[in-house]
Amino acid sequence: MNNFSFQNPTRLVFGKGQIAQLTTLIPADKNIMLTFGGGSVKINGVYEQVKAALKNHKYIEFWGIEPNPTVETLRKAITEGKKNKIDFLLAVGGGSVLDGTKLIAAGICYDGDAWDIVLQGSSNDSIPFASVMTLPATGSEMNAGAVISRSETREKYAFSNRHPLFSILDPETTYSLPAFQIACGIADIFVHVVEQYMTTPGQSRTMDRWAEGILLTLVEIAPKIRENQNDYDLMSDYMLSATLALNGFISMGVAQDWATHMIGHELTALHGITHGHSLSIVYPGTLRTLKVQKHGKLLQYGLRVWGINEGTEEERVDRAISETESFFRSLGLATRLSENGVGDDTIDTIVNRFNKAGAAYGEKRNVTGDLAGQILKNCK
Ligand code: NZQ
Ligand code: ZN
Repeated sequence: MNNFSFQNPTRLVFGKGQIAQLTTLIPADKNIMLTFGGGSVKINGVYEQVKAALKNHKYIEFWGIEPNPTVETLRKAITEGKKNKIDFLLAVGGGSVLDGTKLIAAGICYDGDAWDIVLQGSSNDSIPFASVMTLPATGSEMNAGAVISRSETREKYAFSNRHPLFSILDPETTYSLPAFQIACGIADIFVHVVEQYMTTPGQSRTMDRWAEGILLTLVEIAPKIRENQNDYDLMSDYMLSATLALNGFISMGVAQDWATHMIGHELTALHGITHGHSLSIVYPGTLRTLKVQKHGKLLQYGLRVWGINEGTEEERVDRAISETESFFRSLGLATRLSENGVGDDTIDTIVNRFNKAGAAYGEKRNVTGDLAGQILKNCK
């Protein structure tokens, strides 16, 4: 196991009716900006609950943070925030609202253009922020990361800010999610886990089994959620698995990959493909391309997650990869570029972008432009 230093300061407040806790979780003297997406919170009652909890607080509202939040929109919120001397932000919605809010929080403390902070990769300062998370997927509710797009140039990059001060997760808020968003959410959680797991075996038994526990949970609950997404306990497990997959708990002292995410971000930036969907397309191709490098871990994963214990090692590895692709398809997602009309020109663009940036992702830092091109060809 590698050395590590771990701290996650976010307070999780979980369960039915817990949005009411906002009354005491945010100090009464704060000058708050509430941030929202396109209006889902008005349909599912979350907005009313937030307003009721904050009826004695001072706040303004900022609406319109879009999926794959853009710097163009967030600049407007930063200007509003500075003008109104905002000193606390509360994101109410999915990962995009929260990611956008992370940039607003940093941008309010910065004199230059917010895109500088994204390109820098991390912020120097930030006002405090928190969330009411309504979409289990990104883990943004308990991590410091955010992914921001720039529509002008069709770019999408991650940066890190502080962790949220607290995040409220009420599984009942997920009952209103469209089936497609749940499918993308489950694919996103699954790929977060494997990006921290599918490297080399023998690094940490604890991390391996924790990761496999989340994968097994997803495989078990996915078909049940499709039958009934109003089951509280089922949605609770879905919600908590998203948080645990990307709050640092499964990556202590082990190697990480993240090549699939970086390629997926390019597909979203260039074609607007929803984040989780971009991963269901790229990940099977990543495994097909890197199956020799990931051989040992693929065998372990095949056995422990899919119960594959027969055949030659080569056959077991191939089956583990095809089970993974079938799982994504069982969610109703595409797993091939051609299904989304993405052709060779896009592959060339991504290879060029990676080469220009000197990209080197994956646990062996060998996913450069050329290897990313091969992965994409294996996703056709
Ligand atoms: O905008 P509204 O009207 O709120 O509707 C949203 C949006 O249209 C809707 N929605 C959210 N909660 C709902 C709901 N609809 C009904 N009921 C609810 N309870 O769902 C749509 C998608 O929302 P979005 O926030 O875009 O989805 P998600 O949470 O998957 O976030 C995706 C973004 O997060 C980034 C992705 O790249 C993408 O930009 N990621 C962030 C990460 C992080 N911060 O650590 C890591 C991830 O790997 C990911 O890259
Ligand atoms: Zn993701």
